[in-house]
Amino acid sequence: MSTRKPYVGGNWKMNLKQDSAGALARGVVDSCEPWQGSVDIAVFPALPYLLSVHSIIRSHATTIAVGSQDVYHEDDGAFTGEVSCAMVADCGCKSVLAGHSERRHVIGETNAQVNLKVRAAIEADLDVVLCVGETLEQREAGQTDTVNAQQVREGLAEVGQRQMDRVVIAYEPVWAIGTGKTATPEDAQDAHAKIRGLVGEIYNPDVAERVRIIYGGSVKPSNAASLFGQPDIDGGLIGGASLKVEDFAAIVRAAAEG
Ligand code: PGA
Repeated sequence: MSTRKPYVGGNWKMNLKQDSAGALARGVVDSCEPWQGSVDIAVFPALPYLLSVHSIIRSHATTIAVGSQDVYHEDDGAFTGEVSCAMVADCGCKSVLAGHSERRHVIGETNAQVNLKVRAAIEADLDVVLCVGETLEQREAGQTDTVNAQQVREGLAEVGQRQMDRVVIAYEPVWAIGTGKTATPEDAQDAHAKIRGLVGEIYNPDVAERVRIIYGGSVKPSNAASLFGQPDIDGGLIGGASLKVEDFAAIVRAAAEG
């Protein structure tokens, strides 16, 4: 890994209840303590538990951030069921995910919607993890690079150079998410390097050098070190393994050591 500070996020998805989310948050705080300074760590609980997880994390005076798995781009108004950036910030969130593949492919979010979320989050002073990645069909059709490029370009449309300090890009090949299949470190590195090159084209080499590009898709303790050892992989977005304290801590440690 480079001089970029590694970033590891735990995406808890639609799992856990108040008690189990609280227990997991306490476990993460305790077990990740040694790497708090060297890795940016965030957990993304389901919306109803943002406040309770944040209050546990805050009471431990840790640098671990709480984030929201999604937001709506409008500030307020008649948008039944949606939640604004200001609301999640008010619940203690420091960051949000935008364009997770489950939102793109299960809920049907478009690049344009993802871009509105990215911009709304930045406007609200939240960090944003922009998720991109190809489906198996697209990979087999040789479209990996064009799909990633389009999702990055459209996801970052009208995001200024300075605002890029708030953005982390997560490359998550859809076929690797929750499937137990992981991209090889070489394939992941190749995709990351291309995304970094594209950020350089859109902005400049300095922004490209600074932006963190993390990998997601069946990251576990056994493969984390080889992924994070790649020059353009700056950490991970972790789903299944983030629900087990020991596994998540081992992944954070691999990022610290990568
Ligand atoms: P996974 O999920 O680690 O369970 O594959 C990753 C993600 O969806 O962010």
